[in-house]
Amino acid sequence: MNRLTADELRSKYINFFVSKGHAKIQGKSLLPENDPTVLFTTAGMHPLVPYLLGEEHPAGKRLVDFQKCIRTGDIDAVGDASHLTFFEMLGNWSLGDYFKEEAIKMSFEFLTSPEWLNIPLEKLGVTVFEGEGEIPKDEESAAIWKSLGVPQNRIAFLPRADNWWGPAGTTGPCGPDTEMFYYLGDAPCGNDCKPGCSCGKWLEIWNDVFMQYIKTAEGTYEPLSRKCVDTGMGIERTVTVLNGKKSVYDTEIFSQIIEAIEKQSGCKYAGGANIETDKSIRIIADHVRSAAFILGDPKAVSPSNVGAGYVLRRLIRRAVRHARKLKSGDAKTGTFNLSAIAEVVINQFKGPYPELQENRNFVIAELNKEEEKFLETLQKGEHEFEKLLPNLLKDPRKIMSGRLAFKLYDTYGFPIELTEELAAESGMTVNREEFEEAFKKHQELSRSQSGQAFKGGLGDQGEMAVKYHTATHLLHQALRAVLGESAAQKGSNITAERLRFDFTHDSPMTPDQIKKTEDIVNEQIKKDLPVSMETMSIEDAKAAGAIALFGEKYEAQVKVYTIGNSAADFFTKEVCGGPHVERTGGLGDFKIQKEQSSSAGVRRIRAVLN
Ligand code: ALA
Repeated sequence: MNRLTADELRSKYINFFVSKGHAKIQGKSLLPENDPTVLFTTAGMHPLVPYLLGEEHPAGKRLVDFQKCIRTGDIDAVGDASHLTFFEMLGNWSLGDYFKEEAIKMSFEFLTSPEWLNIPLEKLGVTVFEGEGEIPKDEESAAIWKSLGVPQNRIAFLPRADNWWGPAGTTGPCGPDTEMFYYLGDAPCGNDCKPGCSCGKWLEIWNDVFMQYIKTAEGTYEPLSRKCVDTGMGIERTVTVLNGKKSVYDTEIFSQIIEAIEKQSGCKYAGGANIETDKSIRIIADHVRSAAFILGDPKAVSPSNVGAGYVLRRLIRRAVRHARKLKSGDAKTGTFNLSAIAEVVINQFKGPYPELQENRNFVIAELNKEEEKFLETLQKGEHEFEKLLPNLLKDPRKIMSGRLAFKLYDTYGFPIELTEELAAESGMTVNREEFEEAFKKHQELSRSQSGQAFKGGLGDQGEMAVKYHTATHLLHQALRAVLGESAAQKGSNITAERLRFDFTHDSPMTPDQIKKTEDIVNEQIKKDLPVSMETMSIEDAKAAGAIALFGEKYEAQVKVYTIGNSAADFFTKEVCGGPHVERTGGLGDFKIQKEQSSSAGVRRIRAVLN
């Protein structure tokens, strides 16, 4: 077997397919263009979909490249030996040129020839499609593998779940595939264990997809106008097996990154032997690598609460959490610098991906910013926890209620895992079941209350956004007081910078009305009114005088937020998913910046808190 590095494998693959008449093309952005079905490029074929569907490619009918990919479906599995969120895929394509025979023969040659990967035949196994309905069993591919010397018991026929491939979106080109596996065991497996077996001994390294169909939005399969081949070889996995390693994290691809993590944390990586520590190290390594590639992309997004930005935020925050975990032996002193790890990633990959170097400053700045923001959240959560602690310790069973843990999460964005950690430090456990219950209920509530367009108004749950959310309730009630009860909410949109509120009213507000509205809101802020929440039936909520959105579908049980001193003496009561501040006093000075028409009979206010 040829012990190649990732750089060597990348160039060997390209050279091999160029020698077979393929044109080398550029891999594309991690953030797909004009494709609402996915957040990230998940496979090498992704940017090539139009060509697989029939468009002419300017470089010809045979293409080869390497492509950066992100798949986050298994994000929670990262930390074991093989899962990654970021990986590189090598791919060769035939756009209506060669099909099964030539594709399989080229794959076989690249895998086994001494000049290329030199993988011994006895370490290889393949799977092919067993057929379904009108789509026949792929005897053709099986026969080609057999003619090349792959023994019958190393060719497994498997169903659609294993041997059918289409892009991550719901529609697009697809077809049966044949997958190539490396046997990780020491001896050839027994008769009953076949390639694709879930025993963990077979590692898939390459996939040849025979694109023959297009899946339509209606879920039917239409034949493609020309048959294509799409292949994908995972760089990390292939380097793992070529070097006789058991884990992607034990290869040279991760050695410098892990070394940097060791240096920052003072912890040693033990190749998986040290379960908790190694898991955290692997998670940091993977997540920072992904974050660096997302931020280093020409179409980079910043951490946010929506779409790709949200995934990025999750990756960074999870890395921060595990960095703190590694650091906790150190009484949480000193900071763990994620951007120092990102520097290593940039230096290592800037050859094949020069965009990382070009965007280096942006990568570092955004990582630092998000890390800081999250640390603030954590500190606030820890502070709140400490305030709760004396009361918690009074419980003889030493159990913290899940509702309280949820409140920390809901109000401060404090992760449940950290609440559990803090609780454990004081010899307590958290009622996780109750937390999950509250969490689920909250999700259902916010889903039911979100309607289509306005999502309860909360695009961003940062601290400022929470303040704006409470200010929105004050504004809503103030408008009703100034303009009458017909001033009903039509929409709400909140960012960390401002609130926007749409409401029914058929003429522009006068300067006097605007001033009065501002004054009423500011008066409630000055009164430092408490904000409280109760869960009740929608009927009870309405009977109690809570504002509910007309035409909105609510769950049987809803949350009602009251701003005021008591159930009888309140300024406003609204059915709402939350979250809100605890008292109005800290909201700041409320100012309406703009009042304009939104659509017929609907006005729009933009307001800020200073
Ligand atoms: N597009 C195929 C895959 O990702 C090759 O497995």
